[in-house]
Amino acid sequence: MKKNVLIGVTGGIAAYKALDLVSSLKKKDLQIKVMMTKNACEFVSPLSFRTLSGHPCEVDLFDKTNEDPISHISLAKWADLVVLVPCTANVLAKVVHGICDDLVSTTFLACHCPKMIAPAMNVHMYENPVTQRNLALAKDLSYQIIEPEVGHLACNDTGKGKLANVKDIEEAILHSLCHNDQLNHKHVLISAGPTQEALDPVRFISNHSSGKQGYAIARAALNMGAKVTLVSGPVNIPAPKGAAMIFVQSAEEMFEAMKEQSLKADYIIMAAAVADYRPSQKAAEKIKKSAADKTLQMIPNPDILAWIGQHKKENQVVCGFAMETSDLDKHAKEKLEKKNCDLLIGNNLTVEGAGFKTDTNIVSLLKKDSIEHLPKCTKEELGIRILETMKEIEEEKKKC
Ligand code: PMT
Repeated sequence: MKKNVLIGVTGGIAAYKALDLVSSLKKKDLQIKVMMTKNACEFVSPLSFRTLSGHPCEVDLFDKTNEDPISHISLAKWADLVVLVPCTANVLAKVVHGICDDLVSTTFLACHCPKMIAPAMNVHMYENPVTQRNLALAKDLSYQIIEPEVGHLACNDTGKGKLANVKDIEEAILHSLCHNDQLNHKHVLISAGPTQEALDPVRFISNHSSGKQGYAIARAALNMGAKVTLVSGPVNIPAPKGAAMIFVQSAEEMFEAMKEQSLKADYIIMAAAVADYRPSQKAAEKIKKSAADKTLQMIPNPDILAWIGQHKKENQVVCGFAMETSDLDKHAKEKLEKKNCDLLIGNNLTVEGAGFKTDTNIVSLLKKDSIEHLPKCTKEELGIRILETMKEIEEEKKKC
């Protein structure tokens, strides 16, 4: 069933950023309704939110045109989550003291779902002890605060008070909605992205991995309540909030990080695209151009997954990936066995919507005695499926 998110927009310049948030959340298959303070309407029109959310945007507590005379109660009952974005110093003060003098503050008090606040204001207003005390009160009341950022503010001051990045707010919302305790007390170790094998200080050999698959698994694991360590090659995507990040460059660095971290992990997932070979030598200086042909000598990199498979402890569950361009199931099965994995995810580079850089994947899911072909799904949905399967495997292992 679709989850209902109620966004309360209050009167600050960052109100326009709530438009992006609503638009982005709508694409996540959520029901979004927006309520605004009258001051917020000075910055953005309710019509914009109505258009983006597909629902009337309510402003007035006593709107005579509204068929529902107690819309603040109906909205509060409807919401699975209420979020104030941006939340001004004034509205923050009201909602921590139970003041209900407009639709937003009254509805917020009536809500019995989880509550989030994304403050945005001038740095001096933010740092004022009154606001700091109100923020502390909000935390005591279990409202989740999405901390503002430090930056250049609309008033030309610089400091803390800038609305958190919209993507971070979105992630916090999704995290709060999806959060479950399935993997409570589990430590999940994931590798992601490519490795870069240096030729000289300027050049390297690498591959097309964007890190999206490994990062999506990390987000899924966090949402399922796990402690997550993400060992990442060089990528251009934001780190999942809450994951312990270890950044590496080469396969050898990834090997060292994975060896060390694997000692503490319950589930280990190798989604990284690790270079099988590296140049036999890294030149200390930039290799100079010359007219002559050049031959590059390559030597094998350590096979990280094979090492983990060989050294895994009794109750540890290990999942590998296989990236193939032909005979996917055959090669994936060979890798499952050779690297002593409990689970192997095969994806085929030649299929549209699968593999590198996409937001979706189409995979075969191989266990020791079975193979399943999954339909196209998002990389995060695949993450959930992988983690659920690892949990089943762990429970089976414990029975033996
Ligand atoms: O990052 P994205 O753009 O989202 O793309 C996702 C992905 C395609 C990179 C990912 O889904 C994937 O398939 N990752 C594994 C790619 C790969 O290296 O496949 P492989 O068949 O070469 O290796 C098999 C397994 O051994 C993998 O789990 C790999 O991490 C591991 N390996 C490989 C070589 C090596 N030296 N050490 C390893 O641990």
